[in-house]
Amino acid sequence: MSFFKLPYILYRDYPDFGYLTDNRNFGYDTASKSSVKVGDRVLSKTGSVFYSVLTEAPQTVEDIARRLLDIFVGVTAAEIEEDIRVFFQTLAEDGFVGCGVYPVSRVSFFSYSDMVPKAVREEGIESESEEEFFEKWGRNYHLSRVHLEVSAPCNERCVHCYFPENYRKGVMSRELFLRILGQCKECNVLSITISGGEPMLNPDLLFFIKECRENNISVNLLSNLILLSDEMLHEFIKTPLLSIQTSLYSMSAAVHDSITSVRGSYVKTKRAIELLHQYNIPMQINCPIMKQNKDTYHDVLEWAKTMNIEADSDYMLFGCFDGSCKNLKCRLDLSELEPFIAKELDLGREVGNRNHAIGKSDYTICPVCISSLCVSHRGEVYPCEGWQSHSLGNINEHSLKTIWEESEKVNELRSLSYDDFPKCQVCKDKVFCSICLIRNANESHSGSFREVNPYYCSIAHLKGRLALKNHVSD
Ligand SMILES: C[S@@+](CC[C@H](N)C(=O)[O-])C[C@H]1O[C@@H](n2cnc3c(N)ncnc32)[C@H](O)[C@@H]1O
Repeated sequence: MSFFKLPYILYRDYPDFGYLTDNRNFGYDTASKSSVKVGDRVLSKTGSVFYSVLTEAPQTVEDIARRLLDIFVGVTAAEIEEDIRVFFQTLAEDGFVGCGVYPVSRVSFFSYSDMVPKAVREEGIESESEEEFFEKWGRNYHLSRVHLEVSAPCNERCVHCYFPENYRKGVMSRELFLRILGQCKECNVLSITISGGEPMLNPDLLFFIKECRENNISVNLLSNLILLSDEMLHEFIKTPLLSIQTSLYSMSAAVHDSITSVRGSYVKTKRAIELLHQYNIPMQINCPIMKQNKDTYHDVLEWAKTMNIEADSDYMLFGCFDGSCKNLKCRLDLSELEPFIAKELDLGREVGNRNHAIGKSDYTICPVCISSLCVSHRGEVYPCEGWQSHSLGNINEHSLKTIWEESEKVNELRSLSYDDFPKCQVCKDKVFCSICLIRNANESHSGSFREVNPYYCSIAHLKGRLALKNHVSD
């Protein structure tokens, strides 16, 4: 009997326990939710030591026992072999370790051809988020995701982009990337998002992805895929914990290209999506809705569905982080938004905010600094990628761990509650709204995240009015 590590599993060793999880909180699923999901598992300290001697290649019980006998004293080979069998067999039955068919092919855990959800365990998995999981374990504010802007330059000029034009210089060096990676490991980070600008313009992109793979870190690449090459495709295929988010704005080439300002970009992005689909690389299509594509964005969602690819669309565009709001000319105005919101209500989608509704005034109002940080190509650390006017420190001066645990700005953001937004507290439409500090900061005259953004107040009022109309007609 042999056991081995599974390619879709993340493992982290904490001082008092070990933690195993699948990639469901970081990677993308198929549209039909058919990727393998096994949930989370906490290992005792002894279990952690057992798991740590496992390798990607199968090892027999006797091989594993030999390695463990170097660590545990006072036990016989027969005793430890029995413990290994029981321990790893349970983990194998629950989908956390491999036993049997090797190597594990990608399609056995992710395939666009699979149309039915896969249940590894009959009772299913607990649906709690990773934040809830760590909260349960008394580890609030666990840094699990780091967003890296590895290239400020971009090969598109999207009309809605929050990146100001004069910030488009410089790429992240290998040296800085490795320093950040080391600090991520120190914090037991689970996932790194690689973005920009356009990350494929960084000549070291594949080195970054390889490093993440070798360190068992989930990678989420945000790219327009225009520069996808065979070499990149090979590296992607080799990286089981990689997911890609790409932007497709319309199935009309003219509309898509008018948003990216690059003629021919539609053809290249669509072709690349089809190629990645062919190789079962987990992907999500992001399709923000704006004036240019409000009549055609829906075709993207339909097309994605036919390919069993997840797709997301949102009309909530935020302003450039230099406060210029230059990118907001394309944002839908209230009269254009009305049919979208009416449709959301008709479909029974939740347009409100449960936390307002249940009056949890102590609830963390914005997810910034709860489980993630963003780092620019210069090592500047920000609460999130859209909020680069709010520096929390620089990697060249302080480690990620120090910034995460000790920065006054980080603590200030975490301590905010609805009480800090008195205007929202008394708003009759507060159940239809959620506060986003970036939306406030990037569009306010003072640059303050405390200044409530009136555009989103109007959306909440509109939702309130339409919900009431629906309720009366029911
Ligand atoms: C900034 S881009 C960087 C990655 C890559 N160059 C791309 O085009 O996908 C990442 C995502 O942010 C979205 N995005 C850009 N500006 C935005 C804004 N103002 N509000 C919301 N999303 C935005 C893009 O549409 C894209 O899907």
